[in-house]
Amino acid sequence: MHHFHYTGPDLTCESVDLAAVARLYGTPTYVYSATTVADNYRRLRAGLAGLDVQLCYAAKANSNLSLLRLCAMLGTGFDLVSGGEIRRVLAAGGHVRESVFAGVGKTEDEIRLALENGIFAFHVESEPELARINHVAGTLGVKAPIAIRVNPDVDAQTHAKITTGKSGNKFGLPLKQAAAAYEAAAKLKNIAVRGVQMHIGSQLTTVGPFAEAIKKVAPLVAQLKTDFGIEYFSIGGGLGIVYGDALASGSAAWWESLPPEQRPLTPELYGETLTPLLAPLGLKILLEHGRYLVGNAGVLLSRVEHLKRSGGKNFLVVDAGMNDLVRPAMYDGYHEVVPVHRDSSRRALKADIVGPICESSDCFAKDRPIQEIGEGELVAFMSAGAYGYAMASRYNSRPMPAEVLVQGSTFELVNARETFAQMIAGEKIPAFLR
Ligand code: LLP
Repeated sequence: MHHFHYTGPDLTCESVDLAAVARLYGTPTYVYSATTVADNYRRLRAGLAGLDVQLCYAAKANSNLSLLRLCAMLGTGFDLVSGGEIRRVLAAGGHVRESVFAGVGKTEDEIRLALENGIFAFHVESEPELARINHVAGTLGVKAPIAIRVNPDVDAQTHAKITTGKSGNKFGLPLKQAAAAYEAAAKLKNIAVRGVQMHIGSQLTTVGPFAEAIKKVAPLVAQLKTDFGIEYFSIGGGLGIVYGDALASGSAAWWESLPPEQRPLTPELYGETLTPLLAPLGLKILLEHGRYLVGNAGVLLSRVEHLKRSGGKNFLVVDAGMNDLVRPAMYDGYHEVVPVHRDSSRRALKADIVGPICESSDCFAKDRPIQEIGEGELVAFMSAGAYGYAMASRYNSRPMPAEVLVQGSTFELVNARETFAQMIAGEKIPAFLR
C-alpha cells in the first residue's frame, strides 16, 4: 500500500499534485511520501509484534538525510556499510548506538569512527576483519561488540546480482566454519560476542527462503546463546516490494482482488511465518530492511523530450537517464511508468522508454504500453524510492537529480539538484597543464 494515486486525471503523492512539484523544482526529481514510509514501518512492526524486534533500516537503499531523520523519528536504528553512512546518520540525528556496521571491507578509519560513536555491533564477514576490529578496539581501549555473518547456503530465488546467501558468493562464513570463528572471536581481548547475522538476498517475494534460512541457522544460534550468551539474531533484510502493478498496489482493493496464494509477500505473512521460528530462541531479533521501507514510497518524475518514431518503432525519450535510475540497465529491473496527467481520450501506444545517455543500455522499458504522450509532458517511474537516488551518478556529466519529501499537503525540496559548479568543485587543472 502507498500514497500515490490519481486524483481525477492528475497523479498525486498524498495530497500533492506531482505536476506542481515538477513546475517548482524541474525534472528529473525523486519524490517521496513520508506517510508511506511510516505506514510501511508500522505494518512491519505489527507483523512481528510477538517478538522483541530492533529494526535497523538499511541506509544503502536511500540515505537522504530527511528519510534517515524520518526513520529515526519512527524508531529505527540503521544498517550501515560505510563511514559516509555513519556520518549521514549522525547528521540526520539518528542513533549509531542502535545501529550495526556491515560490509566486507571495513577500513581501520571506519571501524574507529563506528567505535567512537558507540556502534551497537559490527557484522563481521571474515577472520581477518575480526583481527582488524580487535586491533582498532585495542588502540581505543574499548571492547568491540560483534556478530559474525553466516552464509546459510539458501537460494533466495531472486535476481543473481542481488542474491547473497548462496555458498560461493563473497558474503559471510559458511555455517560449518561459524562455530570455530566464534570460538576464536571469544578469545580476542577486545571483542565482545553479541549476536549472529545472516542476509540471504534482496527483493524476495516469497517467504519460503527466509524460513528455510532461519531453520538452518537456528541450531547454531541456540548453541551460541548457551556458549557465549549472545543477545540477538539478525535475520537481515530483503523483503520485496511490488514493481509490476506498482500503482495499483497502492490500494487495499488491489490486494483483496488477488487470491491469497497469488499475493506478493506482505509483512503480515512474513511476520506470521517467521515468528514461530524465531520466538523459541528467546533473543532480540534484528531486521535490516531497506527496500521494503522506502521502495514504494518514491517515484522518479521525468519529462518527455521527444516521441521519436524510427524503424517502425516508437521511442519515448525522457529527461531521466540510467545515471538517475540504473536498476533497469543494471538488473533488468522493471519500473512501471505512468503519465502524470491521465487522458483516457488519447490512444494507447507501445514505446521503448529511453533516456538521453549515449548507451543502448539507457533503456527503461521495451515495447511498453502507455497512453500517447508528447514533448513537455510528465511521466512517473513508480517504486523508485529504494536504490534509485542512492545508485545515481553523474555519468555523461549530468547533475545529481533533486529530491522532494511530501507529507500530507506539504512538500519540501530536501536535496537540491546539483549545480555545474558543485559537480566540478573538487577538480582542478594541474600546474603542468597550465
Ligand atoms: N542487509 C544486508 C547485509 C544487505 O546486504 C542488504 C542489501 C540489506 C540488508 C538490505 O536489503 P533490502 O531490504 O533493501 O532488500 N541495488 C539492488 C539491491 C542491492 C541490495 C544489497 N544489499 C537493487 O536495486 O535491487
